Amino acid sequence: MTGIIAAYPNRIQVPEGAKVVTLGEGATPLLHAEHLSELTGCTVYLKVEGSNPTGSFKDRGMTVAITHALASGLKAVICASTGNTSASASAYAAKAGLTCAVLVPQGKIALGKMAQAVAHGARILQVDGNFDDCLELARKTAIDYPVTLVNSVNPIRLLGQRSAAWEICDELGKAPDIHCLPVGNAGNITAYWAGYTEYAQDGVTNGTPRMFGFQAAGAAPLVHGEPVATPETIATAIRVGSPASWTGAVKAKDASDGLFEAVTDERILDAYRLLAAREGVFVEPASATSVAGLLATAADGRIPRGSTVVCTVTGHGLKDPATALEGTVEVEPLAVDPGAVAAALELV
Ligand code: F0G
Repeated sequence: MTGIIAAYPNRIQVPEGAKVVTLGEGATPLLHAEHLSELTGCTVYLKVEGSNPTGSFKDRGMTVAITHALASGLKAVICASTGNTSASASAYAAKAGLTCAVLVPQGKIALGKMAQAVAHGARILQVDGNFDDCLELARKTAIDYPVTLVNSVNPIRLLGQRSAAWEICDELGKAPDIHCLPVGNAGNITAYWAGYTEYAQDGVTNGTPRMFGFQAAGAAPLVHGEPVATPETIATAIRVGSPASWTGAVKAKDASDGLFEAVTDERILDAYRLLAAREGVFVEPASATSVAGLLATAADGRIPRGSTVVCTVTGHGLKDPATALEGTVEVEPLAVDPGAVAAALELV
């Protein structure tokens, strides 16, 4: 069997006799990013989480959450989402034969993610509010009705998301010096830190990386140290004003001698284009936040040259085709006669 529960049976527990619900998540590429390494004087790797079955890192947590939900006997799951959690929950619930309800902020989720929830047959409720409002509604519903909440406030989900840190250490043969992540609701940075510290405590690695968490400038509560009432950013996946895993993120930063920093949408889009054009890796805008942060902190010397750095790129570029086509890339397909292809390409 494939998937992270099969890959790490001693570290990810599921209920005795439970049917494991997996779509073959995990074992994603850790790519040596040659151009970024050259730019920063570091050895930079990209952990490409868009290669998961539904195109984001959420699948690592969802296999565990849905496996537990199925074993509990309840017939429905619910989540709030900026799009990726809902895409993942919809797919894993479909596989498990569970009903899935998703609460999403109206007009603020990328097209590909909405298409996934539709295709997998989720009940989609759009809320006139932001992600934080959706999460509050989802939490309340799960308290009052027999439905399992599969957001990362359900700690079971984060147990699965630790696996990305283990894969990185297993492949590098050590922990990186620095790990850069985009931060929204802050579950992932919490989970990575748990994974890294667990490996170090068990003697699998000699140490843990410094955790660098990057937020979009218009949605940077952890950077400001207080919630943001009206978060705004082109990186809709991390448009979160009041992260649920606030404490976990601060612990990861403080215990690792890390940092939180904001990057502007402009820098996020620069990194987004650079990843696609120079590294061959097409990500959604939120994912590029880690790389925008890497470039900013390497440029002013906060990342020592020679460091081994891993940037997680969290979701696939196909999730958000509108951003790829609107303004960020000049799309002017050239009209060409069948006999003139070589000439148009300046091959003759
Ligand atoms: N990158 C992507 C592509 C995401 O979808 C998210 C979160 C993050 C980064 C941030 O991770 O929340 O653990 O700090 N997306 C959530 C969702 C909020 O609903 O799909 P985080």
